[in-house]
Amino acid sequence: MSDCTNELEREVARLRKVNQVLMDRVERSVDKSGSDFGLFEHNILLQKHVEARTAELGKLQNDLYQAQKMEAVGILAGGVAHDFNNLLHVMRGNIELLARDMSIGSQGRERLKAVIRSQDRAAELVRQLLLFSRKAESCKVAVDVNREAREVVRMLERTIPKMVSLELHLAPKIGPVSGDPVQIEQVLLNLINNAVDAMPEGGRLVVETSSVDLDQDFVQLHADAVAGPHVLLTVTDTGCGMDSATLKHVFDPFFTTKGVGQGTGLGLASVYGIVKGHGGHIHCCSESGRGATFRIYLPVADPVEETPKDQEPEPPLRGGGETILVVDDEADILELTREALEDMGFTVLGVASGEEALDAFHKHRPTIDLILLDLNMPGMGGHKCLRELLHLDPAACVLIASGYSAHGQAKQALASGAKGYIGKPYRLRELEAKVREVLDYSGPDAPGWGHTGHF
Ligand SMILES: Nc1ncnc2c1ncn2[C@@H]1O[C@H](COP(=O)(O)OP(=O)(O)OP(=O)(O)O)[C@@H](O)[C@H]1O
Ligand SMILES: [Mg+2]
Repeated sequence: MSDCTNELEREVARLRKVNQVLMDRVERSVDKSGSDFGLFEHNILLQKHVEARTAELGKLQNDLYQAQKMEAVGILAGGVAHDFNNLLHVMRGNIELLARDMSIGSQGRERLKAVIRSQDRAAELVRQLLLFSRKAESCKVAVDVNREAREVVRMLERTIPKMVSLELHLAPKIGPVSGDPVQIEQVLLNLINNAVDAMPEGGRLVVETSSVDLDQDFVQLHADAVAGPHVLLTVTDTGCGMDSATLKHVFDPFFTTKGVGQGTGLGLASVYGIVKGHGGHIHCCSESGRGATFRIYLPVADPVEETPKDQEPEPPLRGGGETILVVDDEADILELTREALEDMGFTVLGVASGEEALDAFHKHRPTIDLILLDLNMPGMGGHKCLRELLHLDPAACVLIASGYSAHGQAKQALASGAKGYIGKPYRLRELEAKVREVLDYSGPDAPGWGHTGHF
């Protein structure tokens, strides 16, 4: 946000300087000839320059307003989504435990399935809101956008209507992007689905990649863009296009022109959040009846910073009687997790804060095999608790469980020594698999071990 304001201030300063130079020239031309020869031309030039720069400033101001609006809505949406995520987590876990109860009968089981289906839809909405507000945890690796584009097109080819011709124009050499492959896939899926929806009678859909070097001129006109090498991903369609009123709200969450039950209006909002979360820039160009073009600029990664994609987790195994210390301030989540882990064959100690966790660790240290730690807790909180635990025992096996992360908090925790991360809401079998994986694979010599932990 402050970048945009600085940008505007720099522009105003630059404009003043340009005016000064032109005024100097005017004065010099009057002095030399002793007349006002050339003054008229200089005035015209000055006027044109001022007009052009005023228009650019107006655009920048509008961008700034848009960015502020999106940030405010993002904070609200992120807060709501975070609380919903926790509620869903408790609901899902209890229903999964209920479904394991053989005495509920087939009718009860059918009802539970319907609840689980609705919950899955609710979880998907929450996930998109977290993506929009950039609070979704992400795992950044070196991503080849070409490969993701090929993969998504291969996935969609069979489902896209025959009247839509889908073309893939990929530049042979593009740099890697530091990104979350699942999120990049999500961007492509949303843009392609929208393009298909915009062409009910058929048309042409082109997915294109290229390498571009964004220069200062581009950055001056697009407040949130940064200069340097980028991968440009373009999705163009020849569909119905958008009028200026639609275009203005296209990235707003819940903005949709589709009928009830047809669209949530979260597709482009999550695309926007993902692009911003990748340090990129997105731009949409469209006119009513003339198709639409979405351009996404993603900065090329510094290859040194990248880590290879982690291995797929091992298939889940049952608990082997190990003791797990569960730390969560939400009583429902704590109880649910305790029940689920006990059901899997683990012994569980449950505590509601970082302070209690340290206390329990002091008392039961030799018997504790793993600590399942929530990050967002009042009091000392998860991060400090993690630091203290590792201070007491650098080999302590800590698995982070977190619903969201404002600025990659979970990643930070992994970097500071946690052995793994699991996002809430998780399925019980995911928890089982992750706990088993961390218990079996923890230790510096373990396969797949790295400072980013196991995802
Ligand atoms: N390629 C396109 N051509 C024309 N209009 C578009 C295009 N992409 C998006 N839009 C417009 O932007 C609106 C918002 O798009 P968005 O993807 O956010 O939500 P949605 O597609 O309506 O719903 P959802 O993505 O949740 O199914 C759409 O309803 C549509 O009016
Ligand atoms: Mg959509």
